[in-house]
Amino acid sequence: MSRRAAVFVCADCGHESSKWFGQCPVCHAWNRASEMVLARHKSLDRDPAQPIALAELSDLPDRRLSTGFPELDRALGGGLVPGSVVLLAGEPGVGKSTLLLQAAERLSQEGPVLYVSGEESAAQLSRRLRRLGLSGEQIMALPEADLEAICEQISRLQPCCVVVDSIQAVQDPEVPGVPGSLSQVRHCSVRLTREAKERNLPVVIVGHITKEGLVAGPKALEHLVDTVLQFEGERTFAYRMLRAVKNRFGPADEIGLFEMGEDGLKEVSEPVALTHGAKRRPPVGACVTCLLEGSRPLLVEVQALVAPARFGTPRRLTSGIDHRRAAIVLAVLEKRGGLDLAQADVYLSLAGGLTCRESAMDLAVAVAVASGVREVAVTESTIVCGEISLSGTLRPVRQSARRISEARRLGFSRFVVPGALTREVEPGATVLSPETVEQALAMVLPVERYRAGGQG
Ligand code: TYD
Ligand code: MG
Repeated sequence: MSRRAAVFVCADCGHESSKWFGQCPVCHAWNRASEMVLARHKSLDRDPAQPIALAELSDLPDRRLSTGFPELDRALGGGLVPGSVVLLAGEPGVGKSTLLLQAAERLSQEGPVLYVSGEESAAQLSRRLRRLGLSGEQIMALPEADLEAICEQISRLQPCCVVVDSIQAVQDPEVPGVPGSLSQVRHCSVRLTREAKERNLPVVIVGHITKEGLVAGPKALEHLVDTVLQFEGERTFAYRMLRAVKNRFGPADEIGLFEMGEDGLKEVSEPVALTHGAKRRPPVGACVTCLLEGSRPLLVEVQALVAPARFGTPRRLTSGIDHRRAAIVLAVLEKRGGLDLAQADVYLSLAGGLTCRESAMDLAVAVAVASGVREVAVTESTIVCGEISLSGTLRPVRQSARRISEARRLGFSRFVVPGALTREVEPGATVLSPETVEQALAMVLPVERYRAGGQG
């Protein structure tokens, strides 16, 4: 390392500039520029890498390590790839350390797992291990924050997998910035990535996200790592969703569902608490939809509460549902569905504390709100899917047959899905394909029970 050059990097989007900037020209965030010092190599101090003919590599084995959680393996695209770097991002307390410790136990069947813990002492880790009922025989805890010391231990131990919990706690004293600053986080990640590639070693990096934009975060790391898994869920709910937002070794958008319990995280293959079931009519203001995140169909209830607005501008609050999409759906309902929401507060949420960004949920949001306004429950055993366009017409959802068959398996029999083909379903099920929001509302909210003005 000879001369050092400075560069300013946006902590939100990673935009780089040689000059300081108050507002990022790319993502327009203010005061996110942070200075990084780049080390300049004058000459190469090793043999240059040689180009390789790709044809010669055609039959490389696709070896993957199982984490013991099929849901996690699926989010990874089929298991942990040796030499890959995985970023596990999530808010503090969501369960990242719990998940990785449980996965480490299984991974340690292949050899020692190095668990670098800059946040918890070895005693804390061992207590957690016992609480989770794990043996931890081959899990080596390393309470260390110094990057070089960590790399030194990797080379001594030759582990089969390394977990760094968390990247915000690792530091290289040679680099300016406190632990957790953008320059430190980036520098340490690059170094660990090199270690992973050179040793064909899987490295899992934990990155904390905070609600109000992180100090230095997973966003700035996304392009450095092979896979980004986001761990989501409300701390007060038991369900946790693991989402692959980037994956060089499998499809992105895959999800895994977990439940946090007394003895750690358990996989959820049949989430029962997310709907009221197929046998009962849902309560007023609720509508069941089938999400398809990655390849996993998931039945979830959308819940709406519509109440008279007491002061000024009516409130619109959402939890687990994108508020911009919800605003569009509400506007379409007013303009095309004949609902008057100007004087109503609307609260929307997804059962179980889950978060979903799929536009196929639009119609269920509309139905839940209309059900709340008209005080009529949605017909029994009904699933609603569909994307709403600004004109009030409905767009088909992708893989509707897949969603219908999952809902069918769980006992639902009426499917309101635009563009779905009736012949795709077995006898006993009804498929309705409305073309507009209005038509869809008429299909699921029985007309004879509409209440004019909230009475009768
Ligand atoms: P943790 O894995 O420490 O979160 P993170 O590493 O993402 O910050 O776990 C967070 C929460 O999970 C904590 O509030 C306690 C709870 N928890 C359980 O409910 N059951 C358990 O068995 C464990 C280990 C934790
Ligand atoms: Mg933790």
